[in-house]
Amino acid sequence: MQAWDVIVIGAGAAGLMCAAEAGKRGRRVLVLDHGKRIGRKILMSGGGRCNFTNYHVEPGAYLCANPHFVKSALARYTQWDFIALVDKHRIAYHEKTLGQLFCDDSAQNIVDLLVAECESAGVTIRLRSEVLNVERLGEGFGVATAGEQYSCQSLVVATGGLSMPKIGASPLGYRLAEQFGLKVLPTRAGLVPFTLQPEDKQTLESLSGVSLPVVVESEDGTRFAENLLFTHRGVSGPAVLQISSYWQPGERVCFELLPAGSLAGAVAESPNQELKTWLARHLPRRLIEALLTRGDLNSKPLKQYTPKELAAVEHTLAAWPLQPGGTEGYRTAEVTLGGVDTDELSSKTMAAKKVPHLYFIGEVMDVTGWLGGYNFQWAWSSGWVAGQVV
Ligand code: FDA
Repeated sequence: MQAWDVIVIGAGAAGLMCAAEAGKRGRRVLVLDHGKRIGRKILMSGGGRCNFTNYHVEPGAYLCANPHFVKSALARYTQWDFIALVDKHRIAYHEKTLGQLFCDDSAQNIVDLLVAECESAGVTIRLRSEVLNVERLGEGFGVATAGEQYSCQSLVVATGGLSMPKIGASPLGYRLAEQFGLKVLPTRAGLVPFTLQPEDKQTLESLSGVSLPVVVESEDGTRFAENLLFTHRGVSGPAVLQISSYWQPGERVCFELLPAGSLAGAVAESPNQELKTWLARHLPRRLIEALLTRGDLNSKPLKQYTPKELAAVEHTLAAWPLQPGGTEGYRTAEVTLGGVDTDELSSKTMAAKKVPHLYFIGEVMDVTGWLGGYNFQWAWSSGWVAGQVV
């Protein structure tokens, strides 16, 4: 049996950050991953350019049953710390929108950064090593892969969530938490496109490819100003991905296609113009046609609308309701909501409160960020704080 100080399960964003930090402290660290490549999610993130953090990271951008949990780690290892690391490795980056930072060149730059940090800290990374079993061994743990048996003093679970099973997502982290008596909150897909009810699919399918800026609102009043994209399967785009994390089956979401009050003045200005002609100045024509076909709007010369009818049109455009049929699920979701209950973990170190030397970091726990670099920042911050103590 090979003995290590620290074993990290998962060579993703959180696991590699934690391993590098622990290695710098002189700990002998082994990282195990069942994949063929290091950091597969990093490589496919941000359209291949990795949206690695966000200028505006703050605790309010995270969903967690205990919203205070994220504060300590985010304050101790901030977006500015990760940006400094990116600068140290001379990686060129740019702000795309809303504080989102992307590599100029390729997400491979971020994987190379993490590998270089691990190498200089003496960390060993073993790929194609699926962890099959973990058991308590004295004060530490025994870890079994298909071909090897290892022991370690500290065990870090950085196995991520369930999204994208094709690139290595597995439920091992949740299984280990339950094995050691930790509560796991129900999981579901987040940052994921919506599918449509059959009747909406019929009237909205023709809009595939149409994109427009909207403000989307969930039933709990959460709002995002982002782009809506109609697809052949349903609706997507950043507005939908963001609100999907706040949506429960059976609920509606509302899209502000035009702000309330937009029609004021239109009647006086162009009384003979049909509503649809006036709207075409502000909205894609295909969307207007679909709204007319669905009966969400009717079109006639503006001067023929009564004040009550105009108010109804304004209301439809300011809060166009849609009840999704569901989501595309883990197949396309960027993240997994729920996971290891943060009440079971120390917010300062990510250690399991009732199992000495066991740690959970990154997406495996019940912490989910907004779209826009927030999830990687959680991986960096939670991985870094654990790396100081494992
Ligand atoms: P991650 O999932 O990165 O790593 C877990 C590792 O554990 C994997 O390498 C896996 O192979 C390994 N593993 C699992 N089970 C195992 C087992 N039994 N044995 C051994 N190894 C095992 N976020 C963001 O902030 N900006 C962005 O641009 C994007 N873009 C993006 C695009 C796409 C397509 C997806 C799917 C996701 C994103 N995200 C994102 C989210 C982000 O990728 C995610 O939150 C982090 O990768 C989570 O990091 P972790 O290290 O926790 O898990």
